[in-house]
Amino acid sequence: MNARWGRPLVRLGVCASTNEVASWLAAAGLPEGAAVIAHIQTRGRGRHGRIWSSPAGGLWCSLLLRPTAQTAWGRLSLAASVATAEAIEQTANVRAAIRWPNDVLVEGRKVAGILLEAAAHVVIAGIGINANVATADLPPVIRGRAGSLHELSGRAISLEALFETLRERFGRWYALWSSTADAAAVDIIEAWSARDATRGQHVDIQIGSQRVEGIAEGVDATGALRVRAPDRLVRTVTAGDIVSPPVLAGGDGRIGYGDV
Ligand code: BTN
Repeated sequence: MNARWGRPLVRLGVCASTNEVASWLAAAGLPEGAAVIAHIQTRGRGRHGRIWSSPAGGLWCSLLLRPTAQTAWGRLSLAASVATAEAIEQTANVRAAIRWPNDVLVEGRKVAGILLEAAAHVVIAGIGINANVATADLPPVIRGRAGSLHELSGRAISLEALFETLRERFGRWYALWSSTADAAAVDIIEAWSARDATRGQHVDIQIGSQRVEGIAEGVDATGALRVRAPDRLVRTVTAGDIVSPPVLAGGDGRIGYGDV
């Protein structure tokens, strides 16, 4: 399938959530590659049912995917974050890292988040980037660890240019993800690992009633996080929340896992 990424493009002033609108478009039969952008979201969705604060100035967008052969959701999550990090770097001229699984960080602050939501044969990739958002306008609970590209780069970000680059980069990484070639999977893992901000950090991960604590050692071929526990055994984590990584200051310290 040769999707035209960002085509058709639905531009909205205000909506509850671009992921919600994209799911309606999917139900209406729009093709893979269709996208929704909103100026403001009133009920932006974050991972694990959290609210994603979406004032004017951010890039709030969703892309409609119709995966056929591939179901490696963990790697899709990583691929989406690599595409987002590349778009941010190219547009804002900053260095972007990724905190497992798909938070994009600049200078240790979260500037972008990704929410993948799946329904029958459809995945909505929701991407939120704090482009020209003023961090002072964000809720106090996240202000200390969220970043704004405008504030961090010292320049106003063109949302047009950012989206253009994002759709181009996303198309590239999605095509690799869709391929069943082993080399494509390796490319995704390598590109993600080159930006890994979690490696070497102490993490404490809640999976339902279970907890895994230790030092992050990168991801495996599926995109699961490898954690060396105090008993020296390595455990892999494919779902859960990192509840208290010392790298974070303030807020409730929770980071959601972004798999479908
Ligand atoms: C996260 O919790 O880090 C994921 C945040 C994803 C936010 C984006 S903004 C565009 C799209 N629409 C939504 O409602 N959420 C995603």
